[in-house]
Amino acid sequence: MISGKTRVCALIGDPVEHSLSPFIHNAAFEHLGLDYVYVVFRVKSEDLGKAIIGIKGLGIHGINVTMPHKIDVIRYLDELDESAKTACSVNTILNDNGKLIGYTTDGAGALMAMKYNNVDPFGKRILILGAGGASRSISFTLAKVAKKIVILNRTVKKAEMLAGNLMNSGVASEVLAFELNKENLEAMLSDSDILINATSIGMNSDTETPVPPNLLRRNLVVFDLVYEPIETRLLRDAKLAGAKTIDGLSMLVHQGAASFEIWTGIKAPIDLMLKVAKRRMLQLEKGGINR
Ligand code: ATR
Repeated sequence: MISGKTRVCALIGDPVEHSLSPFIHNAAFEHLGLDYVYVVFRVKSEDLGKAIIGIKGLGIHGINVTMPHKIDVIRYLDELDESAKTACSVNTILNDNGKLIGYTTDGAGALMAMKYNNVDPFGKRILILGAGGASRSISFTLAKVAKKIVILNRTVKKAEMLAGNLMNSGVASEVLAFELNKENLEAMLSDSDILINATSIGMNSDTETPVPPNLLRRNLVVFDLVYEPIETRLLRDAKLAGAKTIDGLSMLVHQGAASFEIWTGIKAPIDLMLKVAKRRMLQLEKGGINR
């Protein structure tokens, strides 16, 4: 029951209407008997500054930040945790008695999703497609444990910049960056253990994929951050090729769980959150919910 003492958490982004986060977090709060509620605000880019002032003024406790604000929000925050500083991306804010602290849980979420699916990135050769906010956060986390990180991006400059940042931060793994094209995919995939799609290719599509199916094989882990549809064309092709797969819903839930733990200090009920996310997503996919 919402009362005068209820702590408020919220998602800000644009668009946000179809977000799964309120379902995932409110189910977790209820399950653990926590006096918290999670709501969603559509915030246009030009209103971001006003929204942050409002967060402070209203004493909103925790915020999730999604597209297109993950980078722009940084200028309005009082402090950044190490993860957000290195990745230059924020998806979680904690309001610590009026001080707004930014974090990124994309990297931790990806690592947790891999471990949950019995995939250990330690000492592995990892090929990451994309060089946006999610890719940056994940690259910094995985470069601490992987043997080799290769970043392929449509805009090759962004991949090179990320690789440069990774190397300057003194990570242990070897780091390479190239343009995302068929030739480089073919050359790099044959020398990789884990493939991560951190581009938006395949989102809301049954046919688009960043990787030609003939390049997929057994003994490869394919991790797609795209969660709509749950089974992307890339994941379908990967399963057919005998590869192990991790879907974007797993990533979404684990990065959400890491945010939950920052706000509450309590271990998130992962299995329940996954169940709720999957159920809601299947309802959406079946068209049972008016979109
Ligand atoms: P996120 O926060 O999810 O990482 P983002 O920062 O907007 O989102 O990054 C999106 C990524 O998907 C980028 O790497 C982008 O490539 P560019 O840097 O060249 O823009 C990639 N991307 C999006 N659409 C793409 C497409 N049609 N083909 C190839 N890459 C694409």
